[in-house]
Amino acid sequence: MIVVTGATGNTGRPLVEALLAAGEDVAAVSRGGADFPAGVLHRKADLGVPDSLEAAFEGADRLFLLVRDQALDIAPVVEAAADAGVGRVVLLSSETAATRNDESQLRFEAAVTGSGLEWTILRPGGFASNALLWSESIRRGRSATAPFGDVGMPIVDPLDIAAVAAAALTEDGHAGREYSLTGPELVTPRGQVAAIGAAIGEPVAFVEQSRKEAYEQLLRFWPADVVEASLEVMGRPNEAERRISPDVERVLGRRPHAFAEWARRNAAAFR
Ligand SMILES: NC(=O)c1ccc[n+]([C@@H]2O[C@H](COP(=O)([O-])OP(=O)(O)OC[C@H]3O[C@@H](n4cnc5c(N)ncnc54)[C@H](OP(=O)(O)O)[C@@H]3O)[C@@H](O)[C@H]2O)c1
Repeated sequence: MIVVTGATGNTGRPLVEALLAAGEDVAAVSRGGADFPAGVLHRKADLGVPDSLEAAFEGADRLFLLVRDQALDIAPVVEAAADAGVGRVVLLSSETAATRNDESQLRFEAAVTGSGLEWTILRPGGFASNALLWSESIRRGRSATAPFGDVGMPIVDPLDIAAVAAAALTEDGHAGREYSLTGPELVTPRGQVAAIGAAIGEPVAFVEQSRKEAYEQLLRFWPADVVEASLEVMGRPNEAERRISPDVERVLGRRPHAFAEWARRNAAAFR
């Protein structure tokens, strides 16, 4: 059985579906209530509450680990997984572990790579699903505000992250690997908004924001340190953060999805 944490999120939900379609037994973990396809076991647990983990991991031999709280000590989580019989862990980390020496992500990675379990580390760049922050303003006023409108980044589709995670959980040959996950091309915030407009069949205005305005807006969704770090990457990406990685194609045997494909698949969120 495969336990998927973060199972109601951008990556976890398509991962649960992919594993189910591949005929795997899946237990989906999140703190809140959730609707999953028939056949998926939903287990409520909080990664920050060690007592909730034994029941969450019962019967599992593989684990997809997604940690939302950057301050969390995940050693007890990895220990509980190993005690339950998990032998393989796929960790969703971030490119910032490599490009910004991100202490939280490096700490999560060390807990997994030092666990004695078989591991694969996924290091994605910025997610296409971050564009959902614009859903309300596009629905209501056909406009989207963002800073750094002309800085292109190789935005990655969470569906591709989920597909790589599914491969690492179900196939051999991924143990001890770190995969850098990006989309197939650089796309600017202005370009993303245009792609969403094309997906809904109506023009959407792009309104450039100052860094300060963006900081205040993003604080409504993410903790301050995450906002600060994200703005640094968005505004002043280094060479490694603008590099298009071959890893999605190497693992899946197909090109990663372009942002425009994500926008078409998620058009309903912006109509
Ligand atoms: N967004 C980006 O551009 C980006 C880039 C690189 C890396 N990342 C990494 O990607 C991850 C976010 O992935 P995502 O967008 O797929 O997630 P998401 O959509 O934000 O969903 C988070 C999931 O985690 C669950 N969750 C949150 N806190 C939990 C806890 N304490 N215990 C158990 N479950 C918990 C949530 O469900 P409940 O609320 O019901 O518990 C939900 O299922 C983060 O680790 C982030 O560092 C993101």
